[in-house]
Amino acid sequence: MRRPLRDFRASVLLVLFLLLSAVEVVDASCECGFYMNDTRDYFTHIIYNNFSAFPATKPLRSNPDFAQNWVIQEWSVPPGNWVTPLGISNKEENVFLKDGNLVLRQQGYSKENILKGANVSVASIASASGDIIHGSFRAEFKMENATGGSCGGFFWYRDDQNEIDIEILSREFKPDMFMVHYTTHPALDEKGQLVKNATEVIPLRGDHPARSFQRHRFDWTSEELRFYQNSTQVHANAWRVPDAPGYVYLNVWADAGAWSGLPSTTDVFLTVKSIAIFHNTSASDQGLDKAFNMRCEKAGGPSNTTICLDTNIESGKMDLLSSASTVVPSRVWVLSLLCVVFGIVVSIL
Ligand SMILES: *[C@@H]1O[C@H](CO)[C@@H](O)[C@H](O)[C@H]1NC(C)=O
Ligand SMILES: *[C@@H]1O[C@H](CO)[C@@H](O)[C@H](O)[C@H]1NC(C)=O
Ligand SMILES: *[C@@H]1O[C@H](CO)[C@@H](O)[C@H](O)[C@H]1NC(C)=O
Ligand SMILES: *[C@@H]1O[C@H](CO)[C@@H](O)[C@H](O)[C@H]1NC(C)=O
Ligand SMILES: *[C@@H]1O[C@H](CO)[C@@H](O)[C@H](O)[C@H]1NC(C)=O
Ligand SMILES: *[C@@H]1O[C@H](CO)[C@@H](O)[C@H](O)[C@H]1NC(C)=O
Ligand SMILES: *[C@@H]1O[C@H](CO)[C@@H](O)[C@H](O)[C@H]1NC(C)=O
Ligand SMILES: *[C@@H]1O[C@H](CO)[C@@H](O)[C@H](O)[C@H]1NC(C)=O
Repeated sequence: MRRPLRDFRASVLLVLFLLLSAVEVVDASCECGFYMNDTRDYFTHIIYNNFSAFPATKPLRSNPDFAQNWVIQEWSVPPGNWVTPLGISNKEENVFLKDGNLVLRQQGYSKENILKGANVSVASIASASGDIIHGSFRAEFKMENATGGSCGGFFWYRDDQNEIDIEILSREFKPDMFMVHYTTHPALDEKGQLVKNATEVIPLRGDHPARSFQRHRFDWTSEELRFYQNSTQVHANAWRVPDAPGYVYLNVWADAGAWSGLPSTTDVFLTVKSIAIFHNTSASDQGLDKAFNMRCEKAGGPSNTTICLDTNIESGKMDLLSSASTVVPSRVWVLSLLCVVFGIVVSIL
């Protein structure tokens, strides 16, 4: 009679052991904010999305992990003059999850569409918060399947006088490189001359780099803007650094203007693997975010354990608890349950 029980105990132990070894990834709350390992910049808040960890619920806007951070844009721009000949419509149907990535789609624009003067069906998401000031903005993405023009953008925006852009254009894709456009608006001065350092075009080289995921990043402090390809800084700009809060956007579009070119005749996919935005808010930037300060104090104040490193979060070594940090993570819950079961089994013996 004892043998089966022993086997049972052994298997419970084995399961426990396996579970414990799976808990290498540390759950963290980062109550006191985030340090950037390379620049030593410090920020209080984060927007983090690892899309492969998202359940494939439909539609995306009812996924709380997405909806708490992002708003799918639904608005149109009418056709303008020769500079913007076609209208565009940002549509919800062009934003979805596929194979563990977030996809923003620009729908193929056919000859019939041209004849009808139809809007180009495009995609855009904006951060739910418009109170983002200073930060390190990172996204890993690629833009695929264009036959013709498309512009992919990852940018911070307040108004036309306050904007920080990273843009890529399908018309510039080459087998060994594509151009990345870094722009701080306004890029022109009062006389219409280009402001020094406000725009920079830097090739991203590789073997068909447009076909693989690339890490794009810009950092914004009160002193300067820095731009990165993968983890290497490629440009900096200290002129006209914005000094007011705004929104973060990702988008894909074309309007037949000179910038985007004639819209692609095939669907274009801006495929996003992950987004990590470490940032301050207008209150936290001044040290005046009461909720943040209390949360940090309650956790014991700033220390190695309450301040998280960006590298640990981006490598997946540290798993951010969702904003509702009072919720016990499921792993801990399962472990406690197993311990109880184990206790019962042992007491039976
Ligand atoms: C963090 O920065 C240090 C030096 O500043 C460097 O040696 C280390 O490799 C960095 N860690 C990661 C994970 O990038
Ligand atoms: C195209 O955009 C215009 C301007 O915003 C809008 O009024 C119109 O409804 C759009 N057309 C379609 C078919 O969505
Ligand atoms: C990509 O474009 C081609 C045409 O070039 C089209 O047939 C195909 O359906 C597109 N890919 C996807 C995944 O839609
Ligand atoms: C960035 O990283 C990707 C993949 O790791 C690589 O293919 C690409 O060449 C890198 N780009 C740059 C500019 O270093
Ligand atoms: C202009 O850009 C260069 C190259 O990135 C950088 O070294 C320099 O500091 C910048 N100057 C200003 C005033 O932003
Ligand atoms: C972000 O805000 C904190 C104050 O809470 C400040 O110490 C820090 O310097 C700010 N970060 C940047 C890069 O401005
Ligand atoms: C905590 O931070 C201090 C100072 O930066 C460092 O020397 C120490 O190694 C850190 N400890 C841990 C456990 O990371
Ligand atoms: C993203 O999520 C997937 C699936 O849960 C996981 O395997 C991967 O390690 C995560 N990546 C990071 C960088 O956290």
